[in-house]
Amino acid sequence: MEIFRAPIGTHDVLPPDSGWWERALGSFAQLARRAGFGLLLSPLFEDVAVFDRGIGATSDVATKEMYVFEDRGGRRLALRPEGTASVVRAFVQHRPVVPWKVWYATPAFRYERPQAGRYRQHHQVGVEALGSGDPALDVEVIALAARFYEVLGLRRVRLLINSMGHPECRAAYVAVLAAYLGEHAAELCDEHRERFAESPLRVLDCKRPACVAVTERGPQLPDHLCAACREHFAAVRVGLESIGIVSSLAPRLVRGFDYYTRTTFEFVSDALAGAQNAIGGGGRYDGLAEQLGGPATAGVGFGSGLERLRLAWEAEGNADSAQRVDVFVVDTTGGAHATVLADQLRQAGLAVERAFDQRSMKAQMRLADRSGAAVAVLVGPTEAAQGSVTIRDLRGAAEGAQVTVPASELVATVRERATER
Ligand code: HAM
Repeated sequence: MEIFRAPIGTHDVLPPDSGWWERALGSFAQLARRAGFGLLLSPLFEDVAVFDRGIGATSDVATKEMYVFEDRGGRRLALRPEGTASVVRAFVQHRPVVPWKVWYATPAFRYERPQAGRYRQHHQVGVEALGSGDPALDVEVIALAARFYEVLGLRRVRLLINSMGHPECRAAYVAVLAAYLGEHAAELCDEHRERFAESPLRVLDCKRPACVAVTERGPQLPDHLCAACREHFAAVRVGLESIGIVSSLAPRLVRGFDYYTRTTFEFVSDALAGAQNAIGGGGRYDGLAEQLGGPATAGVGFGSGLERLRLAWEAEGNADSAQRVDVFVVDTTGGAHATVLADQLRQAGLAVERAFDQRSMKAQMRLADRSGAAVAVLVGPTEAAQGSVTIRDLRGAAEGAQVTVPASELVATVRERATER
């Protein structure tokens, strides 16, 4: 029989690895809640036009990477390649009171060439805030990302920041850039020598040394911002500084989606290899709601790839410790007592394991040891007849010590001994 494997570019996350994911998601949810963001759940697929209009029909992601399909009713749908367009679609549909601040945790699908840190299904946590153009909101969003990385224990993280301006000042800059690239076309990489005029900004994003050399010397976006955009950008940087968040100006940072306006940023991990070192990114998208048929509404947000965060965390020398339980219940009378005791202890808030399949006392004790539990609760024929339980310390100075108490004292005794580690 054929053995099926997860599709290329996708992966399963099993315990104990998934323990890190649980903690990361929990930390993110907590930080988001503290900053006033509520959880948004929305469909994994949308009308393909939501993404075409949202991220830009000519963007690499829309043209080469989107999972587009027709459903049985003949609708053209796409799996979400990112989180922002769907959030803004939901905003336009429901017209909630602004500022509207939501967070999400979602898989995202991109048909990319799989490699370490680049997958066809990856997972993002992110936030989006709609309805205010205040630079303080940019700061709040960026700070949430920075504090999240701190809570995860990442230290080798840098924040790169830029401003793309609003559409008019950006258009003026693009014209200047296109003229400059035209003068230096012969020096550009093979791809951009012929095609720079289609999307001059994309050349800024090109990692090939030829393009880097030309664009480094060329006109820089921040020097071409209008007064209002310049003021906004300065306010964001001052705000970040006021809370001790260090950012470096990255004048050639242009992100891959068409919706960005003004502030754009990326967090990179110096523990990861160059091409996949972005652990999170985002920015403003003040025209996106309108683009999706809604009222003109400012917006700002970010998304962060959990796989990359995990890789960065490992690359910084961290490792999972095995998941431990507090208590292991050993029942040599057939297992029915273990069912009742495990349930009682779990209801009391303890992490409890037990054996199945009527294993021998010796086999159950071996499992108890391996489980990392601090104490074992033992029930044999004597305890069963007396209505008692025996509680044995499995670790520490008192290892091997045990007491037999009435079953009514189970939870209190276990709690006392399991927390004395
Ligand atoms: P993005 O930069 O395309 O932005 O993705 C955000 C993060 O997702 C990246 O920094 C990276 O950590 C992770 N990521 C992206 N693609 C992959 C992949 N193929 N494999 C593994 N990880 C990946 C967005 O998606 C925007 N929606 C962010 C945003 C929110 N902008 C405003 N609001």
